[in-house]
Amino acid sequence: MGAEILLKINNNYQMAISAHRELADVFWFISLPGYAVWNEYQLIDEQKTQREVKKYITETYHIFLPDALPSDANISMPLLQNENRKNLKGEKIKEITKTAFASYQKWEEDTLELYQNLAINLIDSGEVSAFNFVGDIIKDVKEELTNVTNKMIEFESHNWDMPTISAEQPDYFEKYQHLIGRIYFDQKMHHWNSALASGAKI
Ligand SMILES: [Fe+2]
Repeated sequence: MGAEILLKINNNYQMAISAHRELADVFWFISLPGYAVWNEYQLIDEQKTQREVKKYITETYHIFLPDALPSDANISMPLLQNENRKNLKGEKIKEITKTAFASYQKWEEDTLELYQNLAINLIDSGEVSAFNFVGDIIKDVKEELTNVTNKMIEFESHNWDMPTISAEQPDYFEKYQHLIGRIYFDQKMHHWNSALASGAKI
């Protein structure tokens, strides 16, 4: 029971990874690199969490459950199909930006609702440890949803002003490149005393 509930979270992460990949594609396409790297950071961070959920299922329940892999998240194709970025004009870029952020916010809202319902199922089944594990995940989703919701409020406050949006791209780019670096490089060595440890790349 607990394993099947956690698999639903795992599978939602697989879709989240697709959603962030497609959002990154959209923002690269319309030349908003800061928002593109923001989504690449979320992609990498959530892929890391997906691996943790899958590992938790194996180590806790000792069974193997296969992932359901989505073919796409239905974000980039509806927005960019048949578009040539050389022909994109200001109003169209603004419209794509708005739709992409609305998809992002909706995705995180739906995810939070799903995980909260699944957490209730876990506690109802007496799965206290799994409930606590999901509690930490819910905290992350709430933080991400707060982040994107605050951004939406800011966009609305300046009425999606494209010069303002363009001007902040370098700051976002720098911030999320830094956070990506932290995911990759702030890991502890696995075998500290290993002959392979010092300067090893693999
Ligand atoms: Fe996310």
